[in-house]
Amino acid sequence: MSTVLTNVSKRYDSDKTVLSDVSAEIQTGEFFVIVGPSGCGKSTLLRMIAGLTQISDGEISINDKVVNDMAPKDRNLTMVFQSYALFPFLSVWDNVAFGLKARKNTSQSEIEERVNDALKMVNLEELKDRKPRELSGGQRQRVALARAVASDAKICLMDEPLSNLDAQLRIKMRQEIYALQRKLGLTLIYVTHDQVEAMTMADHIMVLHDSKVQQIGTPTEIYKHPANEFVASFFGVPPINILPATKDTGNLIEVNNDFKMEVDQQVPNDHFQVGIRPNELVIEAADELDANASIKTIEFLGDEKIVYIKMAHNNVEVAAIVASDSEFKAYDTIKVTAKNNYLVFNSDGVNITKSVEDVVNA
Ligand SMILES: Nc1ncnc2c1ncn2[C@@H]1O[C@H](COP(=O)(O)OP(=O)(O)O)[C@@H](O)[C@H]1O
Ligand SMILES: [Mg+2]
Repeated sequence: MSTVLTNVSKRYDSDKTVLSDVSAEIQTGEFFVIVGPSGCGKSTLLRMIAGLTQISDGEISINDKVVNDMAPKDRNLTMVFQSYALFPFLSVWDNVAFGLKARKNTSQSEIEERVNDALKMVNLEELKDRKPRELSGGQRQRVALARAVASDAKICLMDEPLSNLDAQLRIKMRQEIYALQRKLGLTLIYVTHDQVEAMTMADHIMVLHDSKVQQIGTPTEIYKHPANEFVASFFGVPPINILPATKDTGNLIEVNNDFKMEVDQQVPNDHFQVGIRPNELVIEAADELDANASIKTIEFLGDEKIVYIKMAHNNVEVAAIVASDSEFKAYDTIKVTAKNNYLVFNSDGVNITKSVEDVVNA
């Protein structure tokens, strides 16, 4: 039982390809997140799964049945939009009941039971008689969720459902959606541009960019073994530092002409790039003779500080995370080196880092 996308492509009227050869298998009961920058085609892909947008090429099947030409209402799915899409003139209760009432074969008592259960699940029982305008953004979002929960659709599609909420509420709703998905065993296909939402909720993440799937994997796989520079840079705050590098002697590489680093794998003979996460950089005070960088600015985050650094060569800037009690300040000259956790990208930006397993098995 799964939702399978096979070489799905989309061109709108013009010849511009919005999505090209998207393939994925989404298992029943999993939390599947589609993530990527604005305009990469996330909503288009979700709407194609829903049947609201025609696909140009390829095949979508749900539980072994090709649905390319199936009407949205026959696909047994429900959709939550960024805009909530509530009916302003209906009460909370009636909004949640709307889809169920529209179906002929659901009895009145079953509708009542489902709606009441769904409202209980999202803690809205007491507000059931209110109109949407009498609710906060978070409460409206919960009504939209309750509607999805009340329908017995097998698959729930959500398009950036939290983007209208403030930061605190977003974290709370993130946890609620995650808990609901687990509790109900929903197959949830969730679209977001927010890498944190993707990382915290997903069983599997699909990263979209440049009209193509960049990678599909678990949050750990995506973070530890990104397929390429784009994926590496998309996840993590501040983003991974990408620096030009060349082969030196023995196991050493020369990073940005600023420092040497030991690597335990083959690297290209010509130029390549290394990726070093901000918490893998080491900085120490250094006088001007020993320094290979200087500090631009520092951001205090409570438990730690982010130090923004200008390297001596190539106008390269990097970010490092240090303890909050460290005494670096802007304009300090420093020496930057790296621990031995790094990624190697070839000239096409493809991650060619030998994985930990390869090293162990070598
Ligand atoms: N109905 C449409 N007609 C023509 N182009 C569209 C239409 N909908 C979206 N697009 C274009 O397709 C691309 C992807 O849009 P969309 O799927 O909304 O991206 P995302 O949801 O990732 O921000 C954008 O370049 C957008 O302008
Ligand atoms: Mg969108």
